[in-house]
This record gives sequence, structure tokens and C-alpha cells, in this order.
Amino acid sequence: MGGQKTNLTSWICFLLLYIFVIAATGCGNKNAYTEASFKKGDKMAKKALVAYGSFSGSTAEAAVFIGEKLAERGMTVDVKPVEKIKSLEGYNAVIIGSAIQMGKMKASVVKFAEKNREALSRVPVAVFLVCLTMVKDTPENRKTASGYLEPLKAFVKPVSEGLFPGRVRFKDILFPMRLITFIPAFKKSVPEGDYMDKVKMEKWADEISGKI
Ligand SMILES: Cc1cc2nc3c(=O)[nH]c(=O)nc-3n(C[C@H](O)[C@H](O)[C@H](O)COP(=O)(O)O)c2cc1C
Repeated sequence: MGGQKTNLTSWICFLLLYIFVIAATGCGNKNAYTEASFKKGDKMAKKALVAYGSFSGSTAEAAVFIGEKLAERGMTVDVKPVEKIKSLEGYNAVIIGSAIQMGKMKASVVKFAEKNREALSRVPVAVFLVCLTMVKDTPENRKTASGYLEPLKAFVKPVSEGLFPGRVRFKDILFPMRLITFIPAFKKSVPEGDYMDKVKMEKWADEISGKI
């Protein structure tokens, strides 16, 4: 009986230590809040905002890449996480992107669209997501991935949808979600791997540059 109690105490201590270490080292993944600006010298250049929500950084990386490609096609582009956007004033177009976790977009992205729905109705909007469903680009997976965007489409009418495969690195997952990576069934359904497809992203940037 006493041995069992010691065992339980050891496990609780281990768990608390684990939570402390992960919280100290892993909370607030900085890569998920990257900002960038790509300025064109031309004052007449269209100004676009890439607004995104990322948990572990791959959607942030996709947003910066798409922003850079739009700038190469003649636009002035700001790239910002939705959490840091105060106003849409001055933008001629908005691109909204989100990571997917547990079949859902990042809540802050949907909130951003809801809060700014009026301003977003006055400019062309394109939307994209980054997820593992798109690792295999089949009609069925496109339908599933497109379905993830439904909460966003309640507030915006996108001129185009970009559906991209993403990246899973357990060390990038924030606490407390990182605890889930200890569950074998999770590791099986969300395995580690880097499927980021910059060719696909550039093609999409090219497509939307003609629409926004
Ligand atoms: C906890 C967790 C849950 C996930 N759930 C899904 C899911 O339901 N569907 C999916 O297609 N991808 C899922 N993914 C894969 C992510 O969408 C993918 O890793 C994406 O690149 C994450 O973007 P981020 O790095 O910007 O957070 C999940 C990943 C994690 C870590």
C-alpha cells in the first residue's frame, strides 16, 4: 500500500516536472507569430495583407512564402498573425490562412473574419489552409479539407481556396497539446513529417495575383 503511494507520488512529481519543463521551453512557439513586409517602390502598387493563424509555425511559413510570391508579382504585402491585426484600413486585398488541428481551423482566424466581416466584404479575399489531409491530393481529401474552411466561409466569400499539405514536428507542438503526442493512436493518425509544398503554394500565389 505504502509502495503504491510512493509510486503515485513519483508519477505526479514526474508529470509536474514534465509540465514545468515543457511550459518553460515550449510555450508560445515564436515561429507561429512571424511578421513580414514586402514593399514595392511603386506607390501605385496594390496593398495586400496575408492574415494567418498558426499553432506550430508551418502556416506562418506558408503565409510568408505566399506574401513574398505576391510581392514578386507587383504587390506591396504585409504578413501578420491574426492575433496582431488591429485594422484592415489601406489594404486592397486580404489573404486569410489557417492551420488545422482536430478538424478545425484556429479559432482566432474565424474570430478575425467575424470581427472584420464588413471590411472583408469590400475587398477581394482568398483563403488557404495547411493540414495533413492534403498530403494526398485526392478529390475526397480536397472535399474534406475544403470542409474545414466552412466556418470561415460563413463570413467571407473567397475568390479562391488554397489547400496545402503541412508539417508535423512533435517538438514544435505547444504545451498542453504536446502531451497528446504520447498517445500511440495520435502518433498513428498524425505522424511526424514535412510535406510543405512550395511549388503548389507558388502556383496558387500566381493564380490569386490575377484575382485579387
Ligand atoms: C494536435 C494536432 C492535430 C491535428 N489535426 C489535424 C486534422 O484534424 N486534420 C488534418 O488534416 N491535419 C491535422 N493536423 C496537421 C496540421 O494541420 C499540420 O501539422 C499543419 O502543418 C499545422 O500547421 P501549423 O504548423 O501552422 O500549426 C494536426 C496536427 C496536430 C499537431
